[in-house]
Amino acid sequence: MREGRIVRRSATSRKHRWLAGIVLAASVAAVLGHRALAAPKQAQAVPLRAAATFATIPKPAERSRALFKEAGKVILHARCVNCHPAGDQPTQGDSGQPHLPAVVRGPDGHGAVGGLRCQTCHQAENYAPSRVPGHPLWALAPIEMAWQGRTLGQICEQLKDPKRNGGKTLEQIHEHMAKDTLVGWGWNPGSTRTPVPGTQQVFGDLIAAWIETGAECPTP
Ligand code: HEC
Ligand code: HEC
Repeated sequence: MREGRIVRRSATSRKHRWLAGIVLAASVAAVLGHRALAAPKQAQAVPLRAAATFATIPKPAERSRALFKEAGKVILHARCVNCHPAGDQPTQGDSGQPHLPAVVRGPDGHGAVGGLRCQTCHQAENYAPSRVPGHPLWALAPIEMAWQGRTLGQICEQLKDPKRNGGKTLEQIHEHMAKDTLVGWGWNPGSTRTPVPGTQQVFGDLIAAWIETGAECPTP
């Protein structure tokens, strides 16, 4: 009897130690897990108004300009402009700093031949440990598609000009804005980069509505 009780007691305390161990392991995991979730901190995208909310503007031309202005929150964003520079080099970050290291456009937009090619560092996907953003088609936009330093009105005019938009029709411009996955990277830029506003769906719908209302350009 006596022996039995001792055995039982030590079994219970062993069980307690076990439980304590599990609780400790669980809280360590929770703390580590929380840390993993909390970092890196990505800035929140600002919202983008849906095309339908512009229906209150009665005149189509006026509505068209307002729609493009709203889409301009994406177009003028650093995520897009950094890759549509006016010069020979990409820029980086929200304030458009020169790209480090210095790389050039090269004959095909992928960097100098025999030099630093974009794909040396930019892989098919964003790579968190080194902050390098990625996409299979990572390259600088051709110089005639430069947006940096231009007003939204100027960018609007050049988007409609087949000589400066890669020979695209307005329908193809819409397709590119709404579906292209390199454009789509703007909503999933990785690391701590600020994503462009809204979603690609809302952005594509704004561009479609802009075209339907006559593709008018805002001034300036
Ligand atoms: C030697 C490596 C290297 C090469 C080569 C390179 N990049 Fe980068 N690039 C980086 C790194 C690293 C970053 C991220 C910097 C950061 O945000 O900390 C970056 C960021 C960028 C960004 C900024 C994204 C943003 O919105 O902040 C653009 C645009 C870019 N690269 C374009 C290019 C293009 C185009 C080429 C080829 C012509 C190229 N890069 C070649 C390493 C490289
Ligand atoms: C990594 C670099 C890169 C980024 C980031 C990028 N672009 Fe581009 N963009 C290109 C290249 C390269 C082309 C030309 C190839 C093509 O037409 O598919 C291009 C072409 C375009 C075109 C074709 C017509 C024209 O006149 O420019 C549009 C529209 C466009 N980009 C929109 C955007 C928008 C919107 C964003 C941001 C959400 C964006 N791009 C971000 C590289 C980039």
